[in-house]
Amino acid sequence: MKRFEPIAKGVSGILHGGDYNPEQWLKWKDGIWKEDLRIAKEAGLNSLSVGIFSWAMLEPEEGRFCFDWLDEVMDGLHKNGLTAVLATPSGARPAWLAQKYPEVLRVRADGHRNAFGGRHNHCLSSQVYRAKVKIINTELARRYGKHPALGLWHISNEYSGECHCPLCQAVFREYLRAKYGSLEALNEAWWSAFWSHRYTDFAQIEAPSPRGENDTHGLTLDWKRFTTEQTVDFYLHEIGPLKACAPQIPCTTNLMAGYTGLDYARLAEVLDVVSWDNYPQWTGSSEKDEQIALETGYFHDLMYGLKKKPFLLMESSPSATNWRPVAKLHRPGVHILQSLQAIAHGADSVQYFQMRKGRGGSEKFHGAVIDHVGHENTRVFGEIKKFGREILPQLDHIVGAPKPAKVALVHDYVNGWAIEGMRGALQGETGYTKTLMAHYGAFWRQGVPVEIIDQGASLEGYALVVAPMSYMLREGFADRVKAYVEGGGRFVTSYFSGYVNDTDLCFLGGFPGPLKEVLGIWAEELDALYPGDENAICWNGKQYRAFELCELIHAQGAEALGSYAGDFYAGRPALTAMTLGKGKAYYIAARTGADFLDDFYQSLLGELKLPAYPGGGGLSVQIRAHEKGETLFVINFGAQERLFKLDGEEIPVEAHGFALIERKS
Ligand code: GAL
Ligand code: ZN
Repeated sequence: MKRFEPIAKGVSGILHGGDYNPEQWLKWKDGIWKEDLRIAKEAGLNSLSVGIFSWAMLEPEEGRFCFDWLDEVMDGLHKNGLTAVLATPSGARPAWLAQKYPEVLRVRADGHRNAFGGRHNHCLSSQVYRAKVKIINTELARRYGKHPALGLWHISNEYSGECHCPLCQAVFREYLRAKYGSLEALNEAWWSAFWSHRYTDFAQIEAPSPRGENDTHGLTLDWKRFTTEQTVDFYLHEIGPLKACAPQIPCTTNLMAGYTGLDYARLAEVLDVVSWDNYPQWTGSSEKDEQIALETGYFHDLMYGLKKKPFLLMESSPSATNWRPVAKLHRPGVHILQSLQAIAHGADSVQYFQMRKGRGGSEKFHGAVIDHVGHENTRVFGEIKKFGREILPQLDHIVGAPKPAKVALVHDYVNGWAIEGMRGALQGETGYTKTLMAHYGAFWRQGVPVEIIDQGASLEGYALVVAPMSYMLREGFADRVKAYVEGGGRFVTSYFSGYVNDTDLCFLGGFPGPLKEVLGIWAEELDALYPGDENAICWNGKQYRAFELCELIHAQGAEALGSYAGDFYAGRPALTAMTLGKGKAYYIAARTGADFLDDFYQSLLGELKLPAYPGGGGLSVQIRAHEKGETLFVINFGAQERLFKLDGEEIPVEAHGFALIERKS
């Protein structure tokens, strides 16, 4: 197998760097900038990210550019063998721009325009904003597109939020006109006869807001889809000049773990590489940290799955995260585990926020490579250096290496929006992500790699596809599931699946709608339980807790494997299996704890004979498959030493320690 290509130009190993703001230290540049470069190399960094919020320093007045300082920074990086991740500065705009052109500022859902301030406070539809972004991006591309330090473009920062200004409303109406063609089709898709919401003119349509219409589900979904499309369009607008001057340099924008305001699966289509910012809330308590490790693993896999490719860890804190309600320090060793975990799940970089703590500003107490003391003799620096100098050099062969996952977990942003907006069951607290993480946990504990995909992705090549709470079945998904099962795949879904179509209209003729035949069931009713109330599922001679959501289903072709123990639906099926073609489709009718999910998935994994590396007690095993074989990342997030069993051997992994195991192919 050929060695995989590194993502950023100019770096052959894992990218190691972080957000660097030398412009905050212009006056001290003779001392501080030199120290920054010296300390970066001392830590084993090979890259730094610059220019992320530098617009006011790059264009201090409209049309007057000031690149001298950035020239010096870029040259300095190059001379010191560091690759530059260079940002476009649209994440925050200069005061002069907002003052002269107020339309660039964002309008909130309450109809009020924001004042200048903060960041991410701009309208993506404003032609003025777009024109100004194009000018500054073109200047940057012309000046640095061929600079030898440049390895990667970092587009803006954490695209997020929405704007309700008249310009955005107008573009939204155009989007709807293009999507539906006619008001009649739109009215039908939105079920607008309800509460007399029929639209007779596109001009009557407003973005959903608390001061107006907030509960027409088709409207809410289309607004979210539109916000994603506007962001995609803005991103393409941003990269236009960069691609024109430097087509060889990849582009990314940094995403956020649990952010659901955008359909990242759609945004990822236009990125050359996915990157994201990871700030797990480690507690120092072993039990809680095991759960945090699992959730963080889930988010890494979510990011990997967006392109089914290695990604970049664009930001992480080497210690405290200042915006958390409790900015707890990372305990000794946590930095290394957190960083290795990212690589284990498919990251080709470990990057920090931030290189040097600012003297002022709201992030002056956020963890950093260099603290206010100014030198490198700090505990945190020691951990970064150990990671950069001792551990990273062992991982050069991992760059670009994929993860060999045979299990797919379906997470769909649009389905998540529909679940969040639905009125009924648990009123918007239906717990989609929580449920996905619960199913994910059963594989995480078994050391079975999982790829997280959305409903639009191909199902080919997976031995098992798990799609809990597929409430909305997006166009084409049910057909793909059917073909997958008929072809020999195993498919698992749960209660609350197959209720609505793309525009949130209920399927008629019985749930789970177009999946009824594949699953061989009819879900007649959905029971929501009060907190503390419980039922149980009897399966395989055992009884498991069921709570929160219990669906009353009929087996219609499927075999009932398990049944309810209590309430008026005692004895009715709670777990079913349908044989279709060469495959099988399972339905779990109620929400259960990890005990059931562990047992159920272990039995399936056993039948499928998929390789598993069970850890337990906070021991996580992830795999990357490279040119010479596989690397097993065995990471112990627990406070006890664990024995990892491999081919009859027992390998001790100390508390908060790790083992990297090479297996030849
Ligand atoms: C990120 C952001 C960075 C910095 C960091 C602090 O969300 O992109 O600019 O604010 O948080 O944790
Ligand atoms: Zn706007």
